[in-house]
Amino acid sequence: MFLLLLLTTLAVATQADPRLLEQLQQLGLVNLLEQSVRPNVPQNLASYDFIVVGAGAAGCTLAARLSENPDWRVALIEAGGVENILHLTPLTAGHLQLTASNWNYRSVSQPRACRGMYNQECALPRGKVLGGTSSINFMIYNRGNRRDFDAWAERGNRGWSYDQVLPYFLRSESAQLLGLEQSPYHNHSGPLSVEDVRYRSSLAHAYVRAAQQAGHPRNDYNGESQLGVSYVQANTKNGRRHSAYSAYIRPVHGLRPNLHIFPFTRVTSVLLDAATKSAQGIELVYRQQKYTFKAHKEVILSAGAFNSPQLLMLSGIGPEDNLRAIGVPVVQALPVGKLLYDHMCHFGPTFVTNTTGQTLFSSRLSVSTLKDFTLGRADTQLSSIGGVETLTFIKVPTAQTPENQPDIELIQVDGSLASDEGTALTKGANFKGEIYKKMYRHLARHQQDHFTFLVMQFKPQSVGRLWLHNRNPLEWPRIDPKYFSAEQDVEQLLDGIKEAIRIAQMPALQAIGARILDRPVPGCEDKPFGSDDYWRCSIRTLSYTLHHQVATCRMGPASDATAVVSPELKVHGMRKLRVVDTSVIPLPPTAHTNAAAFMIGEKAADLIRADWL
Ligand SMILES: Cc1cc2nc3c(=O)[nH]c(=O)nc-3n(C[C@H](O)[C@H](O)[C@H](O)COP(=O)(O)OP(=O)(O)OC[C@H]3O[C@@H](n4cnc5c(N)ncnc54)[C@H](O)[C@@H]3O)c2cc1C
Ligand SMILES: *[C@@H]1O[C@H](CO)[C@@H](O)[C@H](O)[C@H]1NC(C)=O
Ligand SMILES: *[C@@H]1O[C@H](CO)[C@@H](O)[C@H](O)[C@H]1NC(C)=O
Repeated sequence: MFLLLLLTTLAVATQADPRLLEQLQQLGLVNLLEQSVRPNVPQNLASYDFIVVGAGAAGCTLAARLSENPDWRVALIEAGGVENILHLTPLTAGHLQLTASNWNYRSVSQPRACRGMYNQECALPRGKVLGGTSSINFMIYNRGNRRDFDAWAERGNRGWSYDQVLPYFLRSESAQLLGLEQSPYHNHSGPLSVEDVRYRSSLAHAYVRAAQQAGHPRNDYNGESQLGVSYVQANTKNGRRHSAYSAYIRPVHGLRPNLHIFPFTRVTSVLLDAATKSAQGIELVYRQQKYTFKAHKEVILSAGAFNSPQLLMLSGIGPEDNLRAIGVPVVQALPVGKLLYDHMCHFGPTFVTNTTGQTLFSSRLSVSTLKDFTLGRADTQLSSIGGVETLTFIKVPTAQTPENQPDIELIQVDGSLASDEGTALTKGANFKGEIYKKMYRHLARHQQDHFTFLVMQFKPQSVGRLWLHNRNPLEWPRIDPKYFSAEQDVEQLLDGIKEAIRIAQMPALQAIGARILDRPVPGCEDKPFGSDDYWRCSIRTLSYTLHHQVATCRMGPASDATAVVSPELKVHGMRKLRVVDTSVIPLPPTAHTNAAAFMIGEKAADLIRADWL
């Protein structure tokens, strides 16, 4: 809380007093403090060549690329505001979920998961700020397995095989990764910074050695093969968050008269001409006033995996039964929101160690650390990406994927819910207070060093969906991920937990006294601690999604009855309308989803240029 207070005070103070801003800039704070962006007031009936709805990871990328052409007028519309010093501070990523930069969605109550959450509702945060979810996420940079993209292509998505998308990942990347300077899998001159985290705890080093002792080779998980253990690669630049806004828009903001950016502006529908089945423009709300924008060439939805399908449905594109039920006339029947995949994890196990001073308790950061960070150092604890230090991609016995494709990722995090004393992480995930109190609070009290695994499954069998329960554009869509409706998903996570425990028994971790935190999960006390049934109960209780929702506007050829957009990302049966964001990803990837959003934005820019030039 101490840290939060300091940071907020700084952010507020600099806005209130421009002289302070000047002083801080002279101190070398230029990187840290966002120049205030004066919102553009919309002009009713303004017309643009391209209207990009949503300034998230994909939307910022696309709008920046399209506006490179000075002849194209581009509008980029964003419901949220501007990043500040809190967004730029990697350690406190979790705190952003408690701010206005989060849409703050919840799942419908989950009968078979999230039992440790109030009402069994899993929290589903999403970024609402210039930069979108890339401005509030945990900054892990991870592209996916060759077979993921080859599987997209095999489903009829021409142009999306691994060899065809790798150039777009590279086009966006500017890597500073020690030892990978010569790797053909990394570029050094793209807009998006990818770097090693320069603060590393001794727990991370011990863990990496232990993972190797357990048979997991050191590797680059964005390189040739994913299997093995790596220090995490992060979307930070000099130890500060590098979001889609920082990477793509800020460098050109104010320099391109053809790019108009509208923060604090909410799009409420796409204007469709039912006769020609084409998008004409959009309706939007700015400060309670309604406006209309016209699109000469295209409307592009980049509003993310929940809001792009919502906007399609509000505009008359979606499943007929759902649209009828809420009284929206059907323009085009398509299976919008019928599929929703996500990556559900287990929060834990946690291991305590005999080390001291290695766990990042954010409330106990020293003033000198804060000062060093604000003065530009990239190796303080504040540059740790929410405590995430290493990733291990593994195969487990219950999996059905091919030999060289991982099924489970072990995300090793310095700390736990104790890192912020039961505040942001606990509330952000909607965890019941007793989970923190009974399992983790004593760790914070005694400043006990410890680390936690998030055990994540890549290819879940459980499939969810999303729908609208009324036609009010300002309300939430209903989201039912149906986590763990397939028993097999629980069994795979159980395999992953067992591997984490096995690694902890290796000499490198035993040397620092690593032992499992054996406080039973509330609700699972009746099962013998550590038994398979105990872990199954724990999986259904400490269910922790990493927010990789995809496929709500699934990409596929016209012959695919489950597809919403074509391989050119055009909404099937419609003209002048595309979806460009993670909602088009057809299958759950072997990766976190932010890197793919940038890739999709880059590739969409090429597809659009090919059509109009
Ligand atoms: C807490 C959290 C942590 C994560 N950590 C990681 C990680 O470490 N690594 C990783 O790879 N992935 C991570 N992810 C996932 C990843 O960040 C997202 O999948 C990805 O950024 C989504 O990009 P997008 O372009 O599809 O959508 P978004 O980035 O969500 O962009 C959508 C934008 O549209 C705006 N918008 C929506 N509706 C409207 C409207 N009606 N009018 C105007 N604007 C609108 C939103 O405000 C938002 O800015 C995380 C996600 C979360 C929530
Ligand atoms: C690296 O990125 C730049 C800028 O996007 C791009 O022009 C270049 O082609 C990329 N290099 C590779 C090897 O992809
Ligand atoms: C770690 O500490 C515990 C408890 O004090 C002790 O029993 C154990 O021997 C120590 N282990 C190592 C490797 O130092």
